[in-house]
Amino acid sequence: MSTIYDLRSYLELLERHGQLAHVAKPVNLFHEAADIGATVERTGAPAPLFEQLYYQPSLDAQTPDDSPRTFGPWRLFSSAIANQERVALALGCDKTQVTATMARALEPAHAIPPVFTEHAAWKRHITTHPNEIDLRTLPIPKHAVGDGGRFITGGVIVSKHPETGVGNLGYNRMEILGPRTLGMNINQWRDVQRAHAAAEAKGQPLGVAVAIGLDPALMIAAGCKYDGDENNIAGAIRGQPVEVTRGVTVDVDTIPAHAELVIEGHVLPGARREEGPLAEFHGYYGEPWQSPVFEVTAICHREQPIYQTIVPGWNEHIYIGNVLPREPLLMRFVSHASKNVGAVHIPPYTNGFLVVVQLSKKTNRGEPRNVALAAFAAHPNFRICAVVDSDVNIYDPSDLLWALTTRVDWGQDIFTVPGAQGHEMDPANDSKGIGTKVGIDATFDKGRRPYGQRVSYPMVELTKYFER
Ligand SMILES: Cc1cc2nc3c(=O)[nH]c(=O)nc-3n(C[C@H](O)[C@H](O)[C@H](O)COP(=O)(O)O)c2cc1C
Repeated sequence: MSTIYDLRSYLELLERHGQLAHVAKPVNLFHEAADIGATVERTGAPAPLFEQLYYQPSLDAQTPDDSPRTFGPWRLFSSAIANQERVALALGCDKTQVTATMARALEPAHAIPPVFTEHAAWKRHITTHPNEIDLRTLPIPKHAVGDGGRFITGGVIVSKHPETGVGNLGYNRMEILGPRTLGMNINQWRDVQRAHAAAEAKGQPLGVAVAIGLDPALMIAAGCKYDGDENNIAGAIRGQPVEVTRGVTVDVDTIPAHAELVIEGHVLPGARREEGPLAEFHGYYGEPWQSPVFEVTAICHREQPIYQTIVPGWNEHIYIGNVLPREPLLMRFVSHASKNVGAVHIPPYTNGFLVVVQLSKKTNRGEPRNVALAAFAAHPNFRICAVVDSDVNIYDPSDLLWALTTRVDWGQDIFTVPGAQGHEMDPANDSKGIGTKVGIDATFDKGRRPYGQRVSYPMVELTKYFER
């Protein structure tokens, strides 16, 4: 059983583990907050909770309104699940058990369906009058300098298929296009796309709730490709059902009851408007899209609300979308090829394209190559597979680079698979996603020469020695 059931209980846990930083200084919603979040994510620093925000578009922004604006009681939180320590805290496991914990939660037999409640703290403050709804009063950031505007990136989209009635959680970026209007990016492979297409075919709007500020189990669950309601995965992570409730203006009854903020509305049939560009998962800006239009019908929030964002194209985005849902799959495939696989990792800084497989021992010389071939079969996005030994810390980029540098003869220890299918948006592939897979045997001792003993120093807790 877990003590985490909402964002606030998670923040308390982060605080106890030195993984939360309170930022009292006023921070600009235009870029500054995201720059801080991105820095935190690349340096392993604690997650920032911004206590004072203001709005002042940078000089490059094309906006008629450049007056500084403040956001009253709102706080802003980012980078919730952006390093292996916080992922482990969010899942309630050791950092080496993340893959196994996710594998267990994704197993259909372990699904725990949500329980319904009428009560939700976010129903305390409800705004439904069209003249009073103004998305611009929410602390929705403009993140990267090349982004087209202010985007909701950490909102979990809660929907229900109009014909099957099956609930769904997922992510769809949303750009503010007007006080009550959002552009909603929905690409082809999403469950919500099927729900929207079914409603649109009948000329009907699709009711949707955007839940923001959540228990990280829900954030992780929403990033998984799953046939049923992803609330079941969040229940499996927590070992108990999550609580869900009904919308106040939309016919959706699987909305997280403990959200900080819920934005309700309808995806309109037959309407498309331009939204974007936005920093994409592969680390470049995408193109603007002609996307469905979402008209807001209610903004509801808790007392002293906390807005939560995900810095797009950066570690947390990759952890939720590419790392946590796929490591169990990778483990299954490579373990089939070798009984000696000890661990796998998809480093978030490689955007889901490179995977690392660790062997606890090597029983024959060809084993690393077979393992890499199995990794490529696990998911088309995997383009580079590095196979390493058990003395390499697979969560530490410098240790991985050390193994690649000192254990790989690049003329002999790699193999390539040209013309293989990858992701269409992988910048190294062609526009159809065709590119070359590369397997790297970065294991120790290929019988070429004797190795000496590896140098190592025990890690120490620096705060014991350095003054703050
Ligand atoms: C931070 C984040 C942002 C995302 N943004 C979008 C988006 O704008 N459009 C989209 O179609 N998918 C987006 N995705 C991908 C999916 O929504 C997500 O992976 C989800 O699992 C879809 O699964 P489902 O089809 O089972 O609901 C995003 C994923 C993450 C983690």
